[in-house]
Amino acid sequence: MTTATTPRATAAPLRETSFALGDEVVPYTYGDRCTEELVAGLGAELGAVDRVVLVADAVAPALAEKVAAALAGSRAGGLPVVVLTLTAREELKTLPVVLDLAERAVEAGATRGTVVVALGGGLVGNVAGMVAATLFRGLPLVQLPTTPVAAFDAVLSAKQGVNLSAGKNMVGTFWTPASVWCDLDWLRGVDERQLLTGTAEMAKNVLAVLPEREEDLLTAVDGLGDHGSDALARLLQIGVDAKAPMLAADPHERREALVFEYGHTVGHAVELASRGALSHGASVGWGMLAAAEVSRRLGLLDEAAVAAHARVLTPLGVRAGHPPRLERAALHRLLLRDNKRGYLPGTGDDVVPMVLLEALGRPLAGENGRPLVPVDADLVHEAVDAVLQPS
Ligand SMILES: NC(=O)c1ccc[n+]([C@@H]2O[C@H](COP(=O)([O-])OP(=O)(O)OC[C@H]3O[C@@H](n4cnc5c(N)ncnc54)[C@H](O)[C@@H]3O)[C@@H](O)[C@H]2O)c1
Repeated sequence: MTTATTPRATAAPLRETSFALGDEVVPYTYGDRCTEELVAGLGAELGAVDRVVLVADAVAPALAEKVAAALAGSRAGGLPVVVLTLTAREELKTLPVVLDLAERAVEAGATRGTVVVALGGGLVGNVAGMVAATLFRGLPLVQLPTTPVAAFDAVLSAKQGVNLSAGKNMVGTFWTPASVWCDLDWLRGVDERQLLTGTAEMAKNVLAVLPEREEDLLTAVDGLGDHGSDALARLLQIGVDAKAPMLAADPHERREALVFEYGHTVGHAVELASRGALSHGASVGWGMLAAAEVSRRLGLLDEAAVAAHARVLTPLGVRAGHPPRLERAALHRLLLRDNKRGYLPGTGDDVVPMVLLEALGRPLAGENGRPLVPVDADLVHEAVDAVLQPS
């Protein structure tokens, strides 16, 4: 499998990369300020579909209209496009919303010959993915990501899901997109919080999987201030290069691809303890600093590797020695509720399951080859205190 980026054989300034989910190779076409050419390219590749159900984030109606018009005009005689909008709020990421979209799609004429196109962030992509996976027992899915999280991370996955009141993404399935198309200009609409989160996920992938791309990442982060085209394209490609080899081997993300949970054990606890004050990205950043401290105390990571964590996270606002204010008791309680416990049956509160690095780019292997190990809870609490509560 190759993830090399090649110019596409068209007059438009589009580039194509790809990633594999198991045996299925997913082409990923992108460019900057190229919506018409990009969507015309998608339309040309849709083949004999009878219509498009475009599930679009309600936040950007003008973009949805533009994409729908370009798709409709991509076929001589016109391609029917049904636009269904969705408000991207986690409390609306539910099965009833999936059913409602499916009902409306069928009312509007969707058949087994229809394709579902998702235009939005990770939330719209996941909900549209659930519609595609289930309507007529499976329709092709195309992803048009409009947030950094979606473009650099979420679309590179077959995981589709919705929330239960007990937790996020607890009902779902695997459904591989047929293709992904992104105009980097779409990503410029998001706020700083979203941009930080998307970039922190890339920092995680560089530390945990691709340390040789640290310079590339730092250059991209430097260029993000003006939302530079080169910076966004670099982050997208780092996302593909980090995830592709793992997902080709482990498309259900239950074995080696669990490495992408690096920083998430402490990160989720930090995010919840901050009660919304910290973004997911910043929280995972703090989670990575804590994981590095655990590894250092276990004699796995040397000072140079710990320093590399600080180098990539400082420009993202996660600065060792300047921790956020968090309620300590809540943070320590939340650490023991991590959802990766299910992978290590029989573990009690004396143990915290974590992805740890034994060197940059080299996760410590646990049972069954999974990069997940039980860590003594006292050690984790002490490392968390050292990183997050310096006196
Ligand atoms: N399947 C996976 O593997 C995977 C991976 C990561 C995240 N996710 C899921 O993705 C979601 C998070 O993704 P996200 O961060 O993209 O969140 P999101 O989809 O909720 O979007 C975040 C916000 O950005 C807005 N938005 C979207 N596009 C915009 C644009 N172009 N301009 C301005 N605003 C825009 C949305 O309306 C929303 O308010 C979560 O539900 C998460 O569970 C899934």
